[in-house]
Formats: sequence, C-alpha cells, structure tokens
Amino acid sequence: MKKILILGGTTEARQLAGKLAEDFLVTLSLAGRTESPVAQGVPVRSGGFGGADGLAAYLGETGTGLLIDATHPYAARISANAAMAARKTGVPILALRRPGWEAVQGDRWLEVDSVADAARALGDVPRRVFLALGRQEVAAFEVAPQHHYLIRSVDPVEPKLVVPDADYLLARGPFGETDERVLLEKHRIDVVVSKNSGGAATYGKIAAARTLGLEVIMVRRPDLPDVPSAETVEALAAMVPHFVEPDAERGV
Ligand SMILES: NC(=O)c1ccc[n+]([C@@H]2O[C@H](COP(=O)([O-])OP(=O)(O)OC[C@H]3O[C@@H](n4cnc5c(N)ncnc54)[C@H](OP(=O)(O)O)[C@@H]3O)[C@@H](O)[C@H]2O)c1
Repeated sequence: MKKILILGGTTEARQLAGKLAEDFLVTLSLAGRTESPVAQGVPVRSGGFGGADGLAAYLGETGTGLLIDATHPYAARISANAAMAARKTGVPILALRRPGWEAVQGDRWLEVDSVADAARALGDVPRRVFLALGRQEVAAFEVAPQHHYLIRSVDPVEPKLVVPDADYLLARGPFGETDERVLLEKHRIDVVVSKNSGGAATYGKIAAARTLGLEVIMVRRPDLPDVPSAETVEALAAMVPHFVEPDAERGV
C-alpha cells in the first residue's frame, strides 16, 4: 500500500491529514521546532530529513507514493527540498498553496522583500512596533534598537533580543480582529510588521491595523517551486485519488 507524506507545520496540513487519513495511509511531518505542537490526529514524524537527499531517501525507505507540501508559504527551503526530492525519486508531488492577502481600501501597507528589509524600513525615529513573525526571525530587529517592540510567539524567544525595550507575549492563534485591536491599542502600537501568510487565522492584526489607520510593513512571499498545487484543503484532497489508491481497510 502506497503511503502519503504530508510536510506540515500549518493548520491546513493538519486538516488535510485528518481528511486524507479516512481513506489513505498518511504520515505528517513536522520540523520539530514547536515545543508542544497541537495534537495532529495522525501518525507524525518530527525533525529535518537532512536536505533534499535525506528526504528522497526517506521517500524510498517508507514506500511513499505521494508527497504533499503543505508547509507555510515562508518555509521556502523545505518546499525547494520537496520539489527536488520528488524530481529525484519520481514520487509525485502536490502543494497546498494558501493564497496571500491582497491590500484593500484603507490598508497602509509598505511591502518589502525580507525581514531584514522590514527592520530597516522602520526608520530612525523610535516607533512602537508589533512583531508577530515567528520567533526564528525577530533577531533581525536588533539592528534597530531605537524602537519599542511587542513580540508575540507560540514559544518563548530565547535568547531575548538585544534591544533595550521589548515586551514578549506568548500566544497561539487564531487571533480575531477585535482582540487584535484591543492589543494594538493597549500597547499603543504604531506599526505592525507581518508576513503575508494568507488565511483567516492571523488576518485579525491586518484588519485591526486598517481600522486603527496603522502602517503595516508586509514582508513579501519568497519564491516557491512550480509544482501542481491547490489553494484549499478540499481542492487538494480531490486531487489525491489520481495519484494513490485508497487503503482498502479504511476505504469507503
Ligand atoms: N516560516 C514561517 O513563517 C512559518 C510559519 C508557520 C509555520 N511554519 C512551519 O514551521 C516549519 C519550519 O519552517 P521554516 O520556515 O523554518 O522552514 P524552512 O526554512 O523551509 O526549512 C528549514 C529546514 O527545516 C526542516 N523542515 C522544515 N519543515 C519541515 C517539515 N514539515 N518536516 C520536516 N522537516 C522540516 C528541513 O530540514 P532538512 O533540510 O534537514 O530536511 C528544512 O531544510 C515548517 O513545517 C513550516 O510549515 C513556518
């Protein structure tokens, strides 16, 4: 029986895994960075594979018949590795690519190409900045220690930033617009730095910034490999039976 490997770390990956597990043998792969990931509901493997070659070897060893890249749109390295491993092994690949947000009337977005560019774009004059970027990348803001930072992450930022004025907040989404507005007002934030993650779970801060008339420094998405893809869990799930047979014991 051919298996499906889903590269995850996103809400949609978990949803897709749950849906596909009704009919197929599914394993979900996590990078292993989050200290206490939410229960995924399907068999999980955790940690890097050792680059594209390691992933290719894993696909062969496990008899995987379909690889699904459902990682976050900013996880560009694993997506590139997945495309390369699929090419090497001949295992078909599909990607779940959540569409990005589009600016609407009232939004004050400044789009930049990287988190480092976002730090520079804050300018020289001290500002009150909300960072909800993921703890791996906030260190880039140490180059701009003149600002006050409110930093939200799922796991603690360790080590703390070498800046004189930062508050830390631990929370896991989804985050609604009203709560985000209350948070931005309470901390007198005047600029939000965000990735263009897409989806509803983290859009609250973008909508709240619009309502409050705040600037958003939006980090553009990285380039991702060109592989067959779908934008939603349902659309991707519908593509899967073209590539792997259902598991007779689970099958409908
Ligand atoms: N970047 C974000 O903003 C963001 C936001 C939310 C969730 N995430 C999730 O967090 C994880 C790490 O993101 P990242 O941006 O650090 O990734 P990345 O830079 O693209 O990947 C770095 C390395 O981490 C390992 N890796 C990443 N995702 C993996 C997975 N699902 N299963 C096994 N190994 C994985 C791979 O190691 P090897 O080369 O050794 O295989 C990869 O080369 C991903 O699962 C992603 O979906 C990322």
